[in-house]
Amino acid sequence: TGMFTYDPGFTSTASCQSAITYIDGEKGILLHRGYPIDQLAENSSFMEVAYLLLHGELPARKELETFSYTISRHTMVHEQMLTFFRGFRRDAHPMAIMCGAVGALSAFYHDSTDITDPEQRMIASHRLIAKMPTLVAMAHKYSVGQPFLYPDNSLSYTGNFLRMTFGVPAEPYVVNPIIENAMRRIFILHADHEQNASTSTVRLAGSSGANPFACIAAGIACLWGPAHGGANEAALNMLREIGKPENIPQYIARAKDKNDPFRLMGFGHRVYKNFDPRAKVMKATADEVLKELGKSDPVLDVAKELERIALSDEYFIEKKLYPNVDFYSGVILNAIGFPTDMFTALFALARTVGWVAQWNEMISDPEQKIGRPRQLYVGAPQRDYIPVEKR
Ligand code: CMC
Repeated sequence: TGMFTYDPGFTSTASCQSAITYIDGEKGILLHRGYPIDQLAENSSFMEVAYLLLHGELPARKELETFSYTISRHTMVHEQMLTFFRGFRRDAHPMAIMCGAVGALSAFYHDSTDITDPEQRMIASHRLIAKMPTLVAMAHKYSVGQPFLYPDNSLSYTGNFLRMTFGVPAEPYVVNPIIENAMRRIFILHADHEQNASTSTVRLAGSSGANPFACIAAGIACLWGPAHGGANEAALNMLREIGKPENIPQYIARAKDKNDPFRLMGFGHRVYKNFDPRAKVMKATADEVLKELGKSDPVLDVAKELERIALSDEYFIEKKLYPNVDFYSGVILNAIGFPTDMFTALFALARTVGWVAQWNEMISDPEQKIGRPRQLYVGAPQRDYIPVEKR
């Protein structure tokens, strides 16, 4: 009709105004509330970043203590959630469980769903941030047939998560500080990324005034796809399939072949056309973790060689395809011992912080309206109904 801008994939449409995250894709810059991602990944705790994204400023010591304490007060899930988990098949994908489990939270917390009340919104946000590690760890425990572990609030956010995932009641679990630090970085690097597909999904779902837990479940569903958060799982599976550096050229050739749907997983980004600043920190962390754990991993060798070959290949240079955050995260998670199908659930855990921050920002924006895109209609023109016997 000419009345609307046609913009499939929203490549040039700003759907909202936001003061949370700034990206300059040409220069490879990512700032949260103005702070560069590498500085946050180096220096801050995940709770500091969560506070920063939610409230706009880094917390003073007292504020951080209060915030961390508040989050720790919400780490348990209702006992009936255990029954809910037991309804899943053991071989269910953790993201299938997460879509269901987080959606199910909306049936438990009726005192934090009046979205017009900022205090209730904050309680829902705290609950989501606090319960995600518990739920993700439960999804893992269920799949391996081990008992669920209750949270231990004397540990850090990441330490508690590692214990719930890898600990067993039979023996004490000692958190390895190297692994704890690597997890902290991975969580920070995934915490927010402005209006990506899953965050836009959370905003769109939330724009109708929907229940906050249900909105985050919608974000989890979107994140699952291999073009988005599912890429970390797909990238590691691809590196394993390649197996050794000699096999790389054949995969590069497939990625360049227009008639082959294969893409190099963990490569390319809608916004970053130079490099993904998160991938830089991730690569350094992968080296560090493997070195400190005393592990060598053929998967890391393949990853490094693949990066080297791709970055000197004309196709990738011309299309500005660089390794993204998901390229190296899988190598680290694999070394720590997470099964591949847990990777995207870990991404969801960390991104929950960004989702709730963006959801709160949207609800409190006076210009907020229900998200309602228009379309270009390309179907049949008006025509008259034909009875079935005459068709
Ligand atoms: N391997 C080979 N070719 C690629 C790749 C790749 N990974 N990514 C893009 N291209 C090509 C694509 O075929 C297209 O070529 P042409 O212009 O000749 O048709 C061109 O580059 C532009 O690609 P596009 O699909 O139009 O770009 P987009 O902005 O819509 O897609 C993307 C971005 C991330 C979905 C895409 O690069 C991709 O599928 N990458 C692999 C999956 C992945 O790693 N996703 C994680 C993204 S970062 C974390 C996250 O968001 O969760």
